[in-house]
Amino acid sequence: GAAVTANISKLEPGQLIRVEWRGKPVWVVKRTPEMLETLTKVEPNLRDPGSEDPQQPDYAKNQHRSKKPELFVAVGICTHLGCSPTYKMNDFDAHVEGIASGFFCPCHGSTYDMAGRVFAGVPAPKNLMIPPYMLSENDTVLLI
Ligand code: FES
Repeated sequence: GAAVTANISKLEPGQLIRVEWRGKPVWVVKRTPEMLETLTKVEPNLRDPGSEDPQQPDYAKNQHRSKKPELFVAVGICTHLGCSPTYKMNDFDAHVEGIASGFFCPCHGSTYDMAGRVFAGVPAPKNLMIPPYMLSENDTVLLI
């Protein structure tokens, strides 16, 4: 299929935009420094800490699961039964103290952190998928 581009030069810190890619919703979020700091804090509570799915690109396996730390790009489909989770910015209850933002799936209550990593003890078995993408120098995301 055709490649899709998203211009993110005007994204505000914490803002999420949606792009349709191969019929799927893809999210692009510009994470705040605070969101990045909390990634270490959630690590004892993750179900799939190593992003073990072999379909994940290599850059989905670092802590922030992205090419550029502040830029989060993920397929917005819950890995349980395919609902689309809701972005909760500063309004998130992951049952981990001090985690203010993340993603909540309304269907059966799965929760994901700001890197799309699934919390332990919820129905979803693995982290959100990271699509194949490239970044240009003028801050454009190219989904391929
Ligand atoms: Fe998301 Fe079931 S589809 S928790």
